[in-house]
Amino acid sequence: MLGIDLENVSRFAGWTDKEFARVFSKAEIEYANKFKNKLSHFCGFYCVKEALVKALDNKKLKFNQIEVLHSGSGKPYLNLNEYLINILKEQNLTSAEISISHSKDSATAIVIVN
Ligand SMILES: CC(C)(COP(=O)(O)OP(=O)(O)OC[C@H]1O[C@@H](n2cnc3c(N)ncnc32)[C@H](O)[C@@H]1OP(=O)(O)O)[C@@H](O)C(=O)NCCC(=O)NCCS
Repeated sequence: MLGIDLENVSRFAGWTDKEFARVFSKAEIEYANKFKNKLSHFCGFYCVKEALVKALDNKKLKFNQIEVLHSGSGKPYLNLNEYLINILKEQNLTSAEISISHSKDSATAIVIVN
């Protein structure tokens, strides 16, 4: 199953730490904050979460429990933590693949779950 999302980076401008913590995991916040264009990175992670909603047709996901991590080369992946494993299990799924792209103004992501 497949999901896609596209968002404007500007939607995250002016967000408070509390708002970021409601949507993003600690690791995502630490990762994005290392970059000058941190809002583009946050926007990409947000697109992953929205694309996952579409792939699963599940609007009840807790966004800050869905976590994007990176391999040594920078390739992003979804952390198969207990929360995500259980969400996938509900639909007899076991794996999730993602891809992210962003520019100054927008970001996009694709998610495939199997
Ligand atoms: C990795 C690469 C493809 C990213 O592309 P980009 O246009 O710079 O950046 P994009 O906005 O499209 O993508 C950024 C996202 O790519 C993802 N990414 C980074 N490294 C990746 C990798 N090795 N594999 C898959 N995805 C990767 C990340 O999710 C990143 O966003 P994040 O850091 O917020 O998670 C690019 O930097 C690269 O190395 N390209 C190869 C260039 C090359 O070999 N050129 C030779 C011809 S001169």
